[in-house]
Amino acid sequence: MNILLIGSGGREHALAWKMAQNSKVEKIYCAPGNGGTAKEDKCENVNLNKIDELLKFAKENKIELTVVGPEVPLVDGIVDEFKKEGLKIFGPSKYAAGLEGSKSFSKDFMKKYNVKTAEYAVFENAEASIDYLKTCSYPIVIKADGLAAGKGVVICEKYEEAEETIKSFMVDDVFKGSGKKVVIEEFLRGVEASILSITDGTTILPFVSSKDHKQIFDDNKGPNTGGMGAIAPNPYCTKEVLESFNEEILKATLHGIQEEKMDFTGIIFFGIMITEKGVYLLEYNVRMGDPETQAVLCLMESDLVDLIEAALSKKLTEFDLKWHDGNACCVVAASKGYPGKYPTGFEITGIEDVDNKVFCAGVSLENGVYKTNGGRVLCASARGNSLEEAIEKAYADINKVKFDGIYYRKDIGKAR
Ligand code: AMP
Ligand code: GLY
Repeated sequence: MNILLIGSGGREHALAWKMAQNSKVEKIYCAPGNGGTAKEDKCENVNLNKIDELLKFAKENKIELTVVGPEVPLVDGIVDEFKKEGLKIFGPSKYAAGLEGSKSFSKDFMKKYNVKTAEYAVFENAEASIDYLKTCSYPIVIKADGLAAGKGVVICEKYEEAEETIKSFMVDDVFKGSGKKVVIEEFLRGVEASILSITDGTTILPFVSSKDHKQIFDDNKGPNTGGMGAIAPNPYCTKEVLESFNEEILKATLHGIQEEKMDFTGIIFFGIMITEKGVYLLEYNVRMGDPETQAVLCLMESDLVDLIEAALSKKLTEFDLKWHDGNACCVVAASKGYPGKYPTGFEITGIEDVDNKVFCAGVSLENGVYKTNGGRVLCASARGNSLEEAIEKAYADINKVKFDGIYYRKDIGKAR
């Protein structure tokens, strides 16, 4: 079986590594992939990005399954385009991908189907939103409606900050269209968790819970990043939390997907907030999380290609999804300066000297030499019999990796 895997991050390296373990898989083409996928078993990078190029490649190279890592091609409708040509692809339709692609669409969906979520209002006019902000209590959360590469959410402590945010989103148009419409939302205080899951449109099968570490510095300080590390399971996801999640979020979401007749075979990722008032849904994503994937897949015992095929043939209810006991941890190493400006092109050593696994993200491979070429460069992922053991192993590995300006948090798995 030949697979086409779309994306270039650490998540995609982890997906490639896991899918390569299936004996039916002969080749995984990673488009465009990275320095890690270039050397992964059964993998080959192909420098393609555009949907029409990917479609042509899939037809010409007997691709039997296409797996999409990031949200942008899903929101742009890659699944509809591939299906029109009779190609097998794992992911939601363009319409269903609106659950991630438009915050107002997803909040309206949550409200319509009684999914427990924060109160909100939607605005398409800057003056009206500023008038509304004068009536709010603070903090308040302002969200750009469209995709904004993880930068479209601002928690405003005061009115003045909220007004500034609205001006930059709606008047200065910093997100080039994505912030012309905004969602203004009640602020929730609590602990976040990521629940990745797989759906075939009739069942949603949740994965083991996980926890991202979004801020750049220890103790959850400093600006948000794409994610500086993850653990699985999430220690705050107790049995009670998971029961509330199942009753008030998962079941209501599945009902909504069915009522709206969404064509959704793919990943659905619930970003939840565990508060004193209960478990709330912050957002849906329609793809795996990064870096959550690099921890969660270390715990997945079942075969991922078999799981995806079960979803595609609408047989998820029959699938016995198995997990390893224990815990996983991944620690992300970033370039100095990230999430602001950073230099690239530094040689990386130690990737192949680790005891567990390194997943590459912003890594290129030039004449056999690994070099940095992104903000989040790579992560060390490990599984242990306890959280402490998983953390210890991941840190022992990240300490073996060297490049100029390497930076990583020291408290992954320990911070709240
Ligand atoms: P979202 O893309 O909607 O998940 O928002 C990105 C991040 O902003 C979340 O992971 C939270 O850390 C934070 N956030 C979003 N909505 C809220 C909210 N209503 N209350 C508090 N924090 C929020
Ligand atoms: N780690 C959060 C995300 O992938 O959106």
